[in-house]
Amino acid sequence: MTSTLFTGIAELVTNDVLLEGADQSEHLGALSEAAVVVQDGVVAWVGPVSGAPPADARQDVGGRAVIPGFVDSHSHLVFAGDRSQEFAARMTGVRYDGGGISTTVDATRAAGDDDLRALVAARVAEMRAQGTTTVEIKSGYGLNVRDEARSLRIAAELTAETTFLGAHVVPTEFAGRRSEYVELVTGEMLAACAPHARWIDVFCEPHSAHAFTEQEARVVLSAGRDAGLGLRVHGNQLGHGPGVRLAVELGAASVDHCTYLSGEDVEQLAAASDTTVATLLPGVEFSTRSPYPDARRLLDAGVSVALATDCNPGTCYSSSIPFVLALAVREMGMSPAEALLAATAGSAKSLRRDDIGVIRVGSRADLTVLDGPSYLHLFYRAGVPIARALDPVGNHGR
Ligand code: NIG
Ligand code: FE
Repeated sequence: MTSTLFTGIAELVTNDVLLEGADQSEHLGALSEAAVVVQDGVVAWVGPVSGAPPADARQDVGGRAVIPGFVDSHSHLVFAGDRSQEFAARMTGVRYDGGGISTTVDATRAAGDDDLRALVAARVAEMRAQGTTTVEIKSGYGLNVRDEARSLRIAAELTAETTFLGAHVVPTEFAGRRSEYVELVTGEMLAACAPHARWIDVFCEPHSAHAFTEQEARVVLSAGRDAGLGLRVHGNQLGHGPGVRLAVELGAASVDHCTYLSGEDVEQLAAASDTTVATLLPGVEFSTRSPYPDARRLLDAGVSVALATDCNPGTCYSSSIPFVLALAVREMGMSPAEALLAATAGSAKSLRRDDIGVIRVGSRADLTVLDGPSYLHLFYRAGVPIARALDPVGNHGR
């Protein structure tokens, strides 16, 4: 057992509202001139450097800020192929409707195991290099038993937060046979995928002919719950719809996108704030030229809010939480502190985790270091790659 004492932390954001001596004014539990002791990947001590206990090794981070590693609670990293032309078309006004997903399904099915694994691993490494220490990864570009199970097996090699999204869209070979596809998803496909998944998700969207209706989504989620999976929902992305209502009704951990919300949706989310998190994905609005969700309205109503990338080849091929944070403060009415909290503790809550998104004794030592003296530099220096996940055994240099 080797312990490491990290010093030279100009500002430590802990998200720990109980931490003695920390500034709680923005709920970030920030401590200046701080130190952290890490042992076996777990935080063993947090406090002012003046009171730090001895440790086996010592690392000085050089007057930088340290924050909880970003928790990217929504991504679709298991895919092959390229849809940059679709992005270019959208920039000139073409509307997103989910139709391009079939292009990625074809490319993903055609990819060899090793090639697909290498693509996913590179994307996870890209996230880590930008400060993300936990990522949720969905299937959803296999859409048959073999390729959905394969996608989840590969994802599970890289994260514990794996999500079965067989109900992403109805694949083209099932055109005109929607109910047969729902039967496959809830039957043989679920049986093959559940052993590799923690969560089940569904694209519930009446504004896309490719996605699932409220009733289909309810059937899919109920089957997933019966198979022991936690529930997540893609909802209210392309227009007003039933996603939020369904997520709250079924006690889903998260309803994601939430771009178009009625007053009733907001009320329901506020009432369910202990159970269901509204996960906002503004990289999608950026990449589809859509209006941004109204985060201010949600926060003011008392809704639990998370921020994530949705990294995927269609609606947002960005793996960058700092980019998402910039959009959240500039376009969605969030303060820097609210945005940072949403991409750490908020997204951890959406994964029903209390060991990440926070730096306190007993939490995972998922530390992200910023090339700057305070968390505000994440926003102040928009577009500059100042955040990176810190190796807990040391080696903080680039
Ligand atoms: O979260 N909305 C559904 N699924 C993805 C996009 C998938 C794609 O276009 O490839 C999303 O936006
Ligand atoms: Fe998504």
